[in-house]
Amino acid sequence: MQSGVGNFGSLEDGKEPYTRTTNQSTRPLPLRLLLFLLLFLGLVSVYLFLSLYMSQFLKIQHVVPVVQSRIQPCVQEPRTLEKWIRPPSYLIHSMNDSELFWRASFVPRIKEYPFKRTPKIAFMFLTRGPLPMAPLWDKFFKGNDKLYSIYIHSLPSYHPDFPTSSAFYGKQIPSQIAEWGMMSLCDGERRLLANALLDISNEWFVLLSESCIPLKNFSIVYQYISRSRFSFISSFDEPGLHGRGRYNEKMSPEVNLTEWRKGSQWFELSRKLVVDIVQDRVYYPKFKQLCRSVCYVDEHYFQTMLSIQSPHLLANRSLTWVVWPWHKPHPRTFGKADLNENFFKKISEAWSYPNWNNF
Ligand SMILES: *[C@@H]1O[C@H](CO)[C@@H](O)[C@H](O)[C@H]1NC(C)=O
Ligand SMILES: *[C@@H]1O[C@H](CO)[C@@H](O)[C@H](O)[C@H]1NC(C)=O
Ligand SMILES: *[C@@H]1O[C@H](CO)[C@@H](O)[C@H](O)[C@H]1NC(C)=O
Ligand SMILES: *[C@@H]1O[C@H](CO)[C@@H](O)[C@H](O)[C@H]1NC(C)=O
Repeated sequence: MQSGVGNFGSLEDGKEPYTRTTNQSTRPLPLRLLLFLLLFLGLVSVYLFLSLYMSQFLKIQHVVPVVQSRIQPCVQEPRTLEKWIRPPSYLIHSMNDSELFWRASFVPRIKEYPFKRTPKIAFMFLTRGPLPMAPLWDKFFKGNDKLYSIYIHSLPSYHPDFPTSSAFYGKQIPSQIAEWGMMSLCDGERRLLANALLDISNEWFVLLSESCIPLKNFSIVYQYISRSRFSFISSFDEPGLHGRGRYNEKMSPEVNLTEWRKGSQWFELSRKLVVDIVQDRVYYPKFKQLCRSVCYVDEHYFQTMLSIQSPHLLANRSLTWVVWPWHKPHPRTFGKADLNENFFKKISEAWSYPNWNNF
C-alpha cells in the first residue's frame, strides 16, 4: 500500500520539475535538438539505403504484402480461381430466400470449365426431424467423398446430433416450416436446390425423405444418373378428379389444361433444370395462388413447369420406388414385418434398369 502511494506522489511531483526545465534551458536546447535531428536524419538515410538495397535483392514483392497487411489487417483471400470455385465451408448463412435464390441463379456463360471439375450428386433430404436411416446412408456414401454432397432441410425447431464421423454432420441448411400439400413444401425444396447450387460441382440434384433408403450401391447410382440424357421426375397427364380435376382455369394462359401434369414429389434433376426452378417468376405465383390445399402443389408445380419448358429433358418417371395404396394420399410405409430377403429382392428388381444408351 505504502509504496503504491509513494509512486503516485512522485509522479504528481514529476510534473513541475519537467515544466521548469523546459522553461529554464532555452539556450542549450537548439544545439541538442540539432544534434538529435542530425542523428535522426542519419538513421533515416541508413534505413532508406538499407531498404532500397534489400528490396533490390529480395525483389519488391516482399515489401508489398507488409504494406497491405498494415492497411487491411484481415486475412486476405488468395486472388485465384480457387476462391470462386470452392464450395462454401459452412452451409449455414444469413441470406434470406430472395437473396439466396438470386445468388443461386448465377450461371457461367462459357460452357467449358478451365479447371478439372468432378461433377457431384447433391443428395437433398427434406425431413421433419431425425434421419433414422442415416447409418445405412453413411455406408452407402463411404469412400465416395469427391462425388457427392449432402443437404438437410428439417423443421427449424429440430437440432440434429450427428456424430462428426457421419456424412450428415453439419449438413443442415437454414430451414423454415414446410407443410404437406402447401407451397411452403415446394419452398423447402427450392431452398434445398438453391443451397446446393452454391457448390459449382453439384451437377445432379436428388430429393429424398427421411424414409428413403438406397436400393443400389453408390457406383451404380452415380453411373446411372451421370450417363443419362434425362432428368428423372415423374410427370404425367392424368384424367379424372385427382389429375386434371385439380387444374384451375385461371392458370391460363401460362398453363393450359393440356399442359397440366401430375407426379410424385421425389426427383433427380440436372443443374440446368434446377436453375430454371430457382429463377422461375412465371409459374411460381400462379401455383402459389391457385393450387392450394387439396390441389397438392408439390405434385404439380415442378412437374408441370418443367414439362412445359424442357419436355425433351425429362424421363417422366422417378428413380424413387414407392407404393401408392389405392386412393390414399400417402405412399405405403414399410415396417419390420415387411423386411425379409425376398422383399429386398423384389424392390431391387422393381428399380427398372433400362439400357443406358437409351437413357
Ligand atoms: C430479404 O431481405 C431484403 C433486404 O432486407 C428484403 O428486401 C427482401 O424482401 C427480403 N426477402 C424475404 C423473402 O424476406
Ligand atoms: C456395386 O454393385 C454392383 C452390382 O451389384 C457390383 O458389381 C459392384 O462391385 C458394386 N460396387 C461396389 C463399389 O461395391
Ligand atoms: C394455351 O393457351 C394459349 C392461350 O389461350 C394458346 O395461345 C396456346 O396455344 C395454348 N397452348 C396449348 C399447348 O394448348
Ligand atoms: C416426357 O413427356 C414429354 C411431354 O410432357 C415428352 O415430350 C417427352 O418426350 C417425354 N419423355 C420421354 C423420355 O418419353
